[in-house]
This record gives sequence, C-alpha cells and structure tokens, in this order.
Amino acid sequence: MGDASGSTWDRGPVTTSAVWPELQAHRAAWGSRTIRSLFAEDRGRAGRLTVDAVGIHADLSKHLVTDETLALLVRLAEDRGLPERIDAMTSGARINTTEHRSVLHVALRMPRGETLIVDGVDVVTEVHDVLGRMADFSERVRSGEWKGSTGKPITAIVNIGIGGSDLGPVMAYRALRHQSRRDITFRFVSNVDGTDIVEATSDLDPSETMFVVSSKTFVTQETMTNALTARSWLISGLGPDADVSKHFVAVSTNAAEVERFGIDTAAMFGFWEWVGGRYSMDSAIGLSLMLAIGADAFRDMLSGFHAMDEHLIHSDLSRNLPVLMGLLGVWYRDFWGAQSHVVLPYEQYLERFPAYLQQLTMESNGKSVTLGGEPVGVDTSAIWWGEPGTNGQHSFYQLLHQGTPLVPADFLFFAQPVNGVGDHHDKLISNVLAQAHVLGFGRTADEVRAAGVPEDLVAHKVMPGNRPSTTLMLDRLTPYSLGSLVALYEHVVLTQGVVWGVDSFDQWGVELGKEMAGKLLPALTADDIPDLSAFDASTATLALRYRSVRGR
Ligand code: F6P
Repeated sequence: MGDASGSTWDRGPVTTSAVWPELQAHRAAWGSRTIRSLFAEDRGRAGRLTVDAVGIHADLSKHLVTDETLALLVRLAEDRGLPERIDAMTSGARINTTEHRSVLHVALRMPRGETLIVDGVDVVTEVHDVLGRMADFSERVRSGEWKGSTGKPITAIVNIGIGGSDLGPVMAYRALRHQSRRDITFRFVSNVDGTDIVEATSDLDPSETMFVVSSKTFVTQETMTNALTARSWLISGLGPDADVSKHFVAVSTNAAEVERFGIDTAAMFGFWEWVGGRYSMDSAIGLSLMLAIGADAFRDMLSGFHAMDEHLIHSDLSRNLPVLMGLLGVWYRDFWGAQSHVVLPYEQYLERFPAYLQQLTMESNGKSVTLGGEPVGVDTSAIWWGEPGTNGQHSFYQLLHQGTPLVPADFLFFAQPVNGVGDHHDKLISNVLAQAHVLGFGRTADEVRAAGVPEDLVAHKVMPGNRPSTTLMLDRLTPYSLGSLVALYEHVVLTQGVVWGVDSFDQWGVELGKEMAGKLLPALTADDIPDLSAFDASTATLALRYRSVRGR
C-alpha cells in the first residue's frame, strides 16, 4: 500500500527515462513539418486521430504529432509507470506520498454495490451513506419541510468555502443552472475580502437563508472568517435568541473543528482525508450543488465521472483520452516550450470551468521536485487559463493567432444547445470550428496577396497557423456529461504528474504564505509599533505605511 518515502513510485526525473532522448531526437528531426503539411501528406489523418470516450468525441488531428510521436509518448507513459499508478490509485494505495494518503476520488463515484476496501473499511458503503444523508437533507430543504428559526422555508443557500471547497461547487452550479431550482437563490462566498460576503448577503432575508460551510480542514482562514461573519449577520437579523442551527450546515473531514465552531456534528456531512480538496466536488463538498439540482441529477453527474474512470482504467493507453491529452500537454510543454494551455468552452454555462481547471492542474502539477525530492529537470505544469467563446475572440485571440507564444488550446462544445434560441447555436458552432481551423491552418502570404491585400499590409495579415488544438465535441450539457468532462481533466492531471514524477496530490507551496499572513496580521493591528524585523525591508515598510493610512 504505497510508501511514505515515495520510493515505491519514484522513478526519478523524467529525463532518466530511456524514451526521453528518443523524444528529443524525434523533436530535433521534426524539421519544417506543419499542421498543414501533416494533413496534406496523410489523407486519413482527420478520421484516424480521433478518440471517442464516454460521449466525448475528441479530434486530436490538429496537433503537431505523427503516429510516431504518439507512439513515443505512450511508451513514455508506460516507462514512467502510468498503468501501475492507475492501478495503485484505484485500489487505494497511498500514492500521495508526501502526505502518506490514498487518492480515492474515484471511490466517490463508484456505484452502490461495488466494494473498495481501504484499511479494512469498505469506502464505497461509506460514500453512499453520506450521499443518502445529503439526498435526505436536500429533499427536506428543497421541499420546504426544513424550516428556518422563524418557521419559514429556505429560499437562499450560501456556500462558504475556498479553493476546492468553492471552485467545484460554483463551477458545476453555473454549468447546470438550467437544471437548478430557480426559486431558490444560490450564492458562493470565498474571498476573505469582506466585499464577498457583504454583497452575497446584502439582499437576502436571514430568516430564509441557509449557509453551507464547506472546508475539508475547517481551519481555513477565509472560510472561518466568512462563517463567523455569516453567523453575526444571522444573529443581527434574527435576534440573539434565534436558533442559528437551522441556518448552518457543515461539510468537512474535521468533526472536532466543526464542533468547536459551534455546528452540531449531526448537521455535518463528512468526507475523507483521501479526497483532495481540488478533487472533492463530487463528495459532500457538492452539497450546495445537490441542493440546486437535486439528488437524482447529482447521481447522474457521478455516473458521468465513473464512466470516465472506467475509460481510464480499461482503455489501452494509445486510445485512452485523458492519457493522450495529458501526453500532448507534456509534448508541448517540454519539447515545444509552450508555457501555457488555454481552455475555450463554447458554452456560456461553463464560464467558471477554466477557473476550476486552474486549481486542478496548477495546484496539482505546479511542482519542481520529484517524489524522491530531486529537481524534476524539466518544465512541469503549464499555466492554464481560458474564457468561454465567443467572448475571448474579441479579446485575447489576437495573441493566440499572431502572437509569439505557442499556446495549445482545448476547444469544447456541445452539439445540442441548452437554450436553442434563434440561430445562436449554429453561429456559436461556426465560430468554434472556424477558430480551430484558423489556428491550425492559418493563411499564407500568397493567400493574403491573392485576396487583394496591398503589399505593405501582407506581413500584418499573414496568419501563421500551425497552432495546435484539441476539439472536444459532446452531445449536450447534462450532469452526466459535466461529470465525464471533469473526470477527463482529473486524469489528464494524473497522467502528466506521473510522467513528470511529481506528487500531484499535495500542495506544500501554499503553506508559507498562510504562515506569513498569520504573522503579519497582529503586526498590522497591534496598538504598539510592531517588531517587523523578521520581514524584509520592503514588506516591513509597506506594513508600516498601511498602519499609518489606517491611523494606527
Ligand atoms: O490553500 C490551498 C487549499 O488547501 C486547497 O488545496 C483547498 O482546496 C483549499 O485550500 C481549501 O481548503 P479547505 O477545504 O480545507 O478549507
């Protein structure tokens, strides 16, 4: 069951893999091949370089790869032990070696009746027990049976959480808003900036408001601060004798802290240390989402997740969509110098999907050392970013088309519109297909001239093309398809982390900033002139200037 030192899984820096120099040689011999030339030489490319998985049709043909490239990348994944790691993860081994934890988000979506024993406990039974409690609670709130302290039903639900305890729920709520209860208001508060909670509650009636305090650890500064402010807001609206327990539930792994905060653990929905924060939206952390869309739709979403898990586990690596997408990311990051990766959903409901992916990818693989603590020796996670199309087209696409960096893109769209108004959807889809086409194939100087462009503008109007993209086409945005998409990217992250040899499930890099903020807070607020000698001169000067502006 794994090894705290990492040695069981540690294969050292990826550059020690025998396949690495082969990939370097392959890249060095790439020559002048372009996406255009690859298509010209290989008429079967568009049909062949596609993968269908769980209702996702993935076109991988507009990539700077040949069959040989893909074969080498798959060999790299094998050499780095990806199949063994998938096996280890899904059987509960402690593959998060720096925290000595299992990584079992796949268990959150295993169907009832399946079994996965970890440390002598069937985790699938535990998962379904919690899901059952969440469903009962959601039904009571949604039906109006659950009453606030003055006897009124709940008409507003505010999720308080940050990072994985916010981004997943808010992303999925917005994605599935069309299936949510429109007569209940849903808000998501994350930032410790007081503006967030003030604006989220300013038009709500405390007697009809429920707060879902979501925090794996239940000690996160932002969440606890917002939860305390929420409690004060309730008490100031309902009076000191109000039964605030009718307005608060907790989602956490830390019963002791939940109790210490003053929430009865009977109103707590638990999950487990083997669920990483950024892999938790399908655990009880999804309670606010379940309140919005109902338990049946939530279960449909879990089925979509599970179907993608099955695809990961059972498909040959060469036809395995998350594995191939992960490997393509490695190819561009380490052999083409791509610094960032853009995700462009042509679906307004997925407006928060890029933000969700930022935590998933960059908190997971933004690492510089291997499992064994050696320098990784190559570039790891790209910077992930994105916006829904078509908005981005009128903003940053200029850089994607004619800028100097190479930015591989994921285009994503649904064939069936959720809101089939007029001809909006056909226009939307014509745009996504056009953008992927132009990125890949561009327009040459000769073509620009042939279009009658004056010579002094030719260079400006040349579209270099040769910019790679994946196009993901799904049938319809549903809880199921959303679950399959999220699981797809979870496994892209796994693939890349295994290839790079990092621990994709810890996040030590966020800790020092929290510690320093904890030290600075008293210095900002103390009555006496604080001792700032532990800080650099710049930080100390800014802190003193802040104190002075605030009259301290
Ligand atoms: O600070 C980073 C982080 O630990 C994330 O990994 C996590 O999702 C987030 O904070 C919130 O943590 P919690 O759910 O424990 O409040």
